[in-house]
Amino acid sequence: MRRPLVAGNWKMHGSRAENARLVEALIEAGGASASEVVVCPPAVYLWETARLIKGEELLLGAQNVCAETHPGAFTGEVSADMLADVGASYVLVGHSERRALYGETDALVARKFVATQAASLTPILCVGETLAEREQGLTDAVVARQLDAVLAVAGIRAFRRAVVAYEPVWAIGTGKNASPEQAEAVHAFIRDRIASQDATIAAALRLLYGGSVKAANAAEIFAQPNVDGGLVGGASLKADEFLRICAASG
Ligand code: 13P
Repeated sequence: MRRPLVAGNWKMHGSRAENARLVEALIEAGGASASEVVVCPPAVYLWETARLIKGEELLLGAQNVCAETHPGAFTGEVSADMLADVGASYVLVGHSERRALYGETDALVARKFVATQAASLTPILCVGETLAEREQGLTDAVVARQLDAVLAVAGIRAFRRAVVAYEPVWAIGTGKNASPEQAEAVHAFIRDRIASQDATIAAALRLLYGGSVKAANAAEIFAQPNVDGGLVGGASLKADEFLRICAASG
Protein backbone atom coordinates (compact mmCIF):
# COMPACT_ATOMS: atom_id res chain seq x y z
CA MET A 1 0.00 0.00 0.00
CA ARG A 2 2.89 2.38 0.75
CA ARG A 3 5.12 2.47 -2.30
CA PRO A 4 8.73 2.26 -1.11
CA LEU A 5 10.94 5.24 -1.74
CA VAL A 6 14.71 5.44 -1.85
CA ALA A 7 16.34 8.86 -1.99
CA GLY A 8 20.02 9.44 -2.65
CA ASN A 9 21.34 12.49 -0.82
CA TRP A 10 24.54 13.38 -2.61
CA LYS A 11 25.33 16.08 -0.02
CA MET A 12 28.17 18.34 -1.23
CA HIS A 13 29.62 15.85 -3.70
CA GLY A 14 29.79 15.62 -7.44
CA SER A 15 30.64 17.57 -10.55
CA ARG A 16 28.86 17.94 -13.86
CA ALA A 17 30.87 15.05 -15.29
CA GLU A 18 30.50 12.79 -12.24
CA ASN A 19 26.79 13.47 -11.98
CA ALA A 20 26.26 12.63 -15.63
CA ARG A 21 28.11 9.34 -15.22
CA LEU A 22 26.15 8.43 -12.11
CA VAL A 23 22.75 9.33 -13.53
CA GLU A 24 23.45 7.55 -16.81
CA ALA A 25 24.40 4.39 -14.93
CA LEU A 26 21.17 4.61 -12.91
CA ILE A 27 19.09 5.13 -16.03
CA GLU A 28 20.78 2.30 -17.89
CA ALA A 29 19.86 -0.11 -15.12
CA GLY A 30 16.33 1.37 -14.93
CA GLY A 31 13.49 -0.85 -13.85
CA ALA A 32 15.67 -2.54 -11.24
CA SER A 33 13.27 -1.42 -8.54
CA ALA A 34 9.55 -1.13 -7.97
CA SER A 35 10.31 1.76 -5.63
CA GLU A 36 10.24 5.43 -6.27
CA VAL A 37 13.85 6.54 -6.68
CA VAL A 38 14.90 10.12 -6.03
CA VAL A 39 18.29 11.76 -6.51
CA CYS A 40 19.17 14.89 -4.53
CA PRO A 41 22.16 16.69 -6.05
CA PRO A 42 23.58 19.99 -4.80
CA ALA A 43 21.34 22.91 -5.80
CA VAL A 44 23.65 24.15 -8.52
CA TYR A 45 23.30 20.84 -10.36
CA LEU A 46 19.52 20.45 -10.08
CA TRP A 47 18.66 21.89 -13.45
CA GLU A 48 21.18 19.85 -15.38
CA THR A 49 20.24 16.70 -13.47
CA ALA A 50 16.58 17.38 -14.27
CA ARG A 51 17.46 17.38 -17.95
CA LEU A 52 19.47 14.17 -17.62
CA ILE A 53 16.54 12.32 -16.02
CA LYS A 54 13.82 13.82 -18.19
CA GLY A 55 11.43 11.12 -19.39
CA GLU A 56 13.00 8.56 -17.05
CA GLU A 57 11.56 7.09 -13.86
CA LEU A 58 14.04 8.89 -11.63
CA LEU A 59 12.76 11.84 -9.64
CA LEU A 60 14.60 14.92 -8.45
CA GLY A 61 14.94 16.20 -4.91
CA ALA A 62 16.63 19.24 -3.38
CA GLN A 63 18.73 19.09 -0.22
CA ASN A 64 17.50 22.35 1.24
CA VAL A 65 15.08 25.22 0.63
CA CYS A 66 14.53 28.78 1.79
CA ALA A 67 11.71 29.25 4.28
CA GLU A 68 10.64 32.47 2.53
CA THR A 69 7.95 31.92 -0.05
CA HIS A 70 8.16 35.23 -1.91
CA PRO A 71 11.02 36.44 -4.09
CA GLY A 72 13.08 39.10 -2.40
CA ALA A 73 16.29 40.17 -0.74
CA PHE A 74 17.50 36.76 0.52
CA THR A 75 21.02 36.57 -0.84
CA GLY A 76 22.23 33.05 -1.47
CA GLU A 77 18.86 31.40 -0.92
CA VAL A 78 16.77 29.25 -3.27
CA SER A 79 12.99 29.25 -2.98
CA ALA A 80 10.67 26.27 -3.24
CA ASP A 81 9.09 27.81 -6.34
CA MET A 82 12.53 27.86 -7.96
CA LEU A 83 13.09 24.22 -7.05
CA ALA A 84 9.73 23.34 -8.59
CA ASP A 85 10.58 25.42 -11.64
CA VAL A 86 13.71 23.36 -12.36
CA GLY A 87 11.88 20.06 -11.92
CA ALA A 88 12.29 18.99 -8.30
CA SER A 89 9.54 16.88 -6.74
CA TYR A 90 10.97 16.44 -3.24
CA VAL A 91 12.90 18.56 -0.74
CA LEU A 92 14.91 17.35 2.24
CA VAL A 93 13.83 19.47 5.18
CA GLY A 94 15.64 19.58 8.51
CA HIS A 95 18.52 17.25 7.66
CA SER A 96 20.64 16.84 10.77
CA GLU A 97 23.60 18.49 9.04
CA ARG A 98 21.44 21.57 8.42
CA ARG A 99 20.30 21.51 12.04
CA ALA A 100 23.76 20.96 13.53
CA LEU A 101 26.03 22.92 11.17
CA TYR A 102 23.73 25.71 10.03
CA GLY A 103 21.69 26.32 13.15
CA GLU A 104 18.32 25.26 11.78
CA THR A 105 15.84 25.23 14.63
CA ASP A 106 12.66 23.17 14.85
CA ALA A 107 10.75 26.37 14.10
CA LEU A 108 12.75 27.13 10.96
CA VAL A 109 12.42 23.52 9.79
CA ALA A 110 8.64 23.80 10.20
CA ARG A 111 8.59 26.94 8.04
CA LYS A 112 10.66 25.19 5.38
CA PHE A 113 8.23 22.27 5.44
CA VAL A 114 5.32 24.65 4.85
CA ALA A 115 7.19 26.56 2.12
CA THR A 116 7.95 23.29 0.35
CA GLN A 117 4.32 22.25 0.29
CA ALA A 118 3.21 25.72 -0.79
CA ALA A 119 5.17 25.11 -3.99
CA SER A 120 3.44 21.73 -4.42
CA LEU A 121 6.64 19.87 -3.59
CA THR A 122 6.82 17.01 -1.11
CA PRO A 123 8.98 17.55 1.97
CA ILE A 124 11.08 14.71 3.32
CA LEU A 125 11.20 15.76 6.96
CA CYS A 126 14.36 14.47 8.65
CA VAL A 127 14.34 13.70 12.36
CA GLY A 128 16.72 11.87 14.63
CA GLU A 129 18.68 11.93 17.85
CA THR A 130 22.39 12.33 18.57
CA LEU A 131 24.40 9.63 20.31
CA ALA A 132 24.34 11.57 23.59
CA GLU A 133 20.56 11.88 23.38
CA ARG A 134 20.18 8.14 22.70
CA GLU A 135 22.45 7.29 25.62
CA GLN A 136 20.33 9.46 27.89
CA GLY A 137 17.18 7.66 26.77
CA LEU A 138 15.92 10.74 24.97
CA THR A 139 15.39 9.28 21.49
CA ASP A 140 11.60 9.32 21.59
CA ALA A 141 11.49 12.73 23.22
CA VAL A 142 13.77 14.29 20.59
CA VAL A 143 11.91 12.74 17.67
CA ALA A 144 8.57 13.76 19.18
CA ARG A 145 9.77 17.34 19.65
CA GLN A 146 10.99 17.53 16.04
CA LEU A 147 7.72 16.09 14.70
CA ASP A 148 5.47 18.14 16.95
CA ALA A 149 7.14 21.39 15.86
CA VAL A 150 6.05 20.68 12.30
CA LEU A 151 2.63 19.35 13.27
CA ALA A 152 1.96 22.52 15.25
CA VAL A 153 2.66 24.78 12.30
CA ALA A 154 1.62 22.68 9.31
CA GLY A 155 -1.19 20.62 10.85
CA ILE A 156 -1.80 16.90 10.59
CA ARG A 157 -3.37 17.10 7.12
CA ALA A 158 -0.05 18.31 5.74
CA PHE A 159 1.31 14.82 6.39
CA ARG A 160 -0.83 13.46 3.57
CA ARG A 161 1.77 15.00 1.25
CA ALA A 162 4.96 14.39 3.16
CA VAL A 163 7.59 11.79 3.89
CA VAL A 164 9.44 11.43 7.20
CA ALA A 165 13.02 10.18 7.37
CA TYR A 166 14.42 8.85 10.63
CA GLU A 167 18.14 9.48 10.59
CA PRO A 168 19.90 8.83 13.89
CA VAL A 169 22.76 11.32 13.85
CA TRP A 170 25.18 8.73 15.27
CA ALA A 171 24.56 6.51 12.23
CA ILE A 172 25.15 9.14 9.54
CA GLY A 173 28.39 8.67 7.66
CA THR A 174 29.81 6.58 10.48
CA GLY A 175 29.37 3.11 9.02
CA LYS A 176 27.33 2.32 12.17
CA ASN A 177 23.76 1.77 11.06
CA ALA A 178 20.89 1.40 13.48
CA SER A 179 19.96 -2.25 13.85
CA PRO A 180 16.73 -3.22 12.09
CA GLU A 181 15.10 -3.46 15.54
CA GLN A 182 16.31 -0.02 16.60
CA ALA A 183 15.07 1.50 13.35
CA GLU A 184 11.72 -0.27 13.59
CA ALA A 185 11.18 0.88 17.18
CA VAL A 186 11.59 4.54 16.27
CA HIS A 187 9.60 4.19 13.05
CA ALA A 188 6.74 2.62 14.98
CA PHE A 189 6.95 5.47 17.49
CA ILE A 190 6.73 8.04 14.67
CA ARG A 191 3.75 6.30 13.08
CA ASP A 192 1.98 6.08 16.44
CA ARG A 193 2.56 9.75 17.10
CA ILE A 194 1.00 10.68 13.75
CA ALA A 195 -1.77 8.12 14.31
CA SER A 196 -2.70 9.78 17.59
CA GLN A 197 -3.90 12.68 15.41
CA ASP A 198 -5.08 10.76 12.33
CA ALA A 199 -4.83 7.01 11.89
CA THR A 200 -5.52 7.07 8.15
CA ILE A 201 -2.80 9.61 7.45
CA ALA A 202 -0.39 7.65 9.64
CA ALA A 203 -1.10 4.40 7.82
CA ALA A 204 -0.28 5.97 4.44
CA LEU A 205 2.76 7.99 5.56
CA ARG A 206 6.07 6.76 4.21
CA LEU A 207 8.86 6.52 6.77
CA LEU A 208 12.42 6.25 5.48
CA TYR A 209 15.45 5.12 7.41
CA GLY A 210 18.79 6.88 6.86
CA GLY A 211 22.24 6.34 8.35
CA SER A 212 24.92 4.13 6.83
CA VAL A 213 22.49 2.26 4.57
CA LYS A 214 24.41 0.08 2.15
CA ALA A 215 23.64 -2.85 -0.11
CA ALA A 216 24.79 -5.24 2.61
CA ASN A 217 22.31 -4.04 5.26
CA ALA A 218 19.46 -2.53 3.21
CA ALA A 219 17.29 -5.63 2.84
CA GLU A 220 17.00 -6.39 6.55
CA ILE A 221 16.31 -2.77 7.44
CA PHE A 222 13.72 -2.38 4.66
CA ALA A 223 12.05 -5.63 5.73
CA GLN A 224 10.83 -3.98 8.94
CA PRO A 225 7.08 -3.33 8.84
CA ASN A 226 7.34 0.41 9.47
CA VAL A 227 10.34 1.08 7.22
CA ASP A 228 9.20 2.18 3.77
CA GLY A 229 12.56 2.86 2.17
CA GLY A 230 15.74 4.74 2.77
CA LEU A 231 17.53 8.06 2.65
CA VAL A 232 21.02 7.16 1.50
CA GLY A 233 24.13 9.33 1.67
CA GLY A 234 27.55 7.91 0.83
CA ALA A 235 26.27 4.77 -0.86
CA SER A 236 24.14 6.82 -3.26
CA LEU A 237 27.29 8.11 -4.95
CA LYS A 238 28.13 4.67 -6.32
CA ALA A 239 25.69 3.56 -9.00
CA ASP A 240 26.05 -0.18 -8.40
CA GLU A 241 25.67 0.11 -4.65
CA PHE A 242 22.72 2.50 -4.90
CA LEU A 243 20.97 0.26 -7.43
CA ARG A 244 21.36 -2.72 -5.14
CA ILE A 245 19.86 -0.70 -2.29
CA CYS A 246 16.95 0.32 -4.54
CA ALA A 247 16.43 -3.30 -5.57
CA ALA A 248 16.33 -4.31 -1.90
CA SER A 249 13.55 -1.83 -1.19
CA GLY A 250 10.76 -2.97 -3.43
P1 13P B 1 25.10 8.05 5.04
O1 13P B 1 24.25 7.09 4.23
O2 13P B 1 26.35 8.47 4.32
O3 13P B 1 25.29 7.60 6.43
O4 13P B 1 24.22 9.42 5.13
C1 13P B 1 22.92 9.36 5.55
C2 13P B 1 22.31 10.68 5.30
O5 13P B 1 22.57 11.65 5.97
C3 13P B 1 21.36 10.79 4.18
O6 13P B 1 20.67 11.99 4.23
